[in-house]
Amino acid sequence: MRVLAVVGTRPNLIKMAPVIAELHRREREFEVLLVHAGQHYDVEMSQIFIEELGMPAPDYALAAGSGSHAQQTARVLVRIEPVLLEAEPDLLLVPGDVNSTLAAALAASKLGVPIAHVEAGLRSFDRTMPEEINRVLTDQLSDLHFTHSPEAADQLLAEGVAEEHIHYVGNTMIDTLVALRERITSVAMPQRLGLTPGSYLLVTLHRPALVDGPELAETVGRLDVLADFVPIVFPVHPRTRKAMDGLGLSFRSRGALIVEPLGYLEFMSLLASAAGVLTDSGGVQEETTYLGIPCFTLRDSTERPVTTTLGTNTLLGREPVRIVEIPELLSRAPARPHEEPPLWDGRAAQRLASVLARTAAVAAAP
Ligand code: UD1
Ligand code: UDP
Repeated sequence: MRVLAVVGTRPNLIKMAPVIAELHRREREFEVLLVHAGQHYDVEMSQIFIEELGMPAPDYALAAGSGSHAQQTARVLVRIEPVLLEAEPDLLLVPGDVNSTLAAALAASKLGVPIAHVEAGLRSFDRTMPEEINRVLTDQLSDLHFTHSPEAADQLLAEGVAEEHIHYVGNTMIDTLVALRERITSVAMPQRLGLTPGSYLLVTLHRPALVDGPELAETVGRLDVLADFVPIVFPVHPRTRKAMDGLGLSFRSRGALIVEPLGYLEFMSLLASAAGVLTDSGGVQEETTYLGIPCFTLRDSTERPVTTTLGTNTLLGREPVRIVEIPELLSRAPARPHEEPPLWDGRAAQRLASVLARTAAVAAAP
């Protein structure tokens, strides 16, 4: 089976690295070609992950770059079409919910190329989120749905997806974490930054609803006050950096460590030893759940409810005023209270490849 795998952003790389590695390992069954749409392009948003996660260099680089949703989606759509025509894949494999995901799926569907979606069936039920539109439409276009949490199948079934097209394989992002656990530990990032393990709050924020809106200034102000009591380390996403610079926002507390986006090993080293994490990221809600680190999500909804039912995630709402509650919430958080969601075990990519191999065998049968 010739598989054309597509990545466009930082989280796509983390989700696809183990899948690509597994397909390469099974080289007698699969040929893999990698497309990088180039939605993320800074070294610290892309190349560093390719290197740290041991991914092959992309076979095709679309260099879509930044722009409005229409511009970015359209660039990927137009630029991937000749790739699909040249590569003639048996399957397009797309992860997650970013603009590159939807654009690649749309181009493939019009050319009759079967599509498999990694991380299918997640829903926030909030259509003001660009990702929600991308998820719903990508699932509608997909032929195979790889899910990572129990409720995803219910959602897909409710939207008319046939049960035999849904495969609960587990979480490929957690595969990456399991595979790199020792290297993450050896990075010792808190010590390198002069932080005491277990004493600080790690912060990531990048959702447009928060960082491009009126709540950003209050969020920064409240974190700045909190940092006088609980050290914070905040690797700032480029969208957030742009918004902060635009509004002239900065931190004055000596307890606030504001840094550039970090590579995967450095970031996960900080996350694994944090007292807690404040975030609006999808992936971070999952990684904290897996590691049993208290997570406070500054959003009104989550498309990953399993992180609040089985995991360590608390939805604070998009309400920066609640940042003041974090010390109290941390003091009440039980030590490492968590149950890993089923099949978040480091072997999701293996199961995914086995499903693909079975699909190929069925397709090849006379
Ligand atoms: C995108 C995804 C979001 C995902 C996030 C992961 C969509 C709609 N959004 O959001 O779901 O959670 O990636 O991080 O697909 N920029 C740079 N350098 C880069 C990349 C971006 O400076 O390498 C800046 C540009 O100013 C750009 C802005 O960040 O306009 C936003 O980038 P974009 O990819 O459009 O959206 P994200 O906010 O990163
Ligand atoms: N991440 C990283 N460095 C950072 C911030 C995040 O390596 O400075 C990793 C982390 O593993 C996280 C993943 O990137 O789970 C996802 O990134 P992001 O939060 O940007 O995207 P989302 O998961 O919200 O789509």
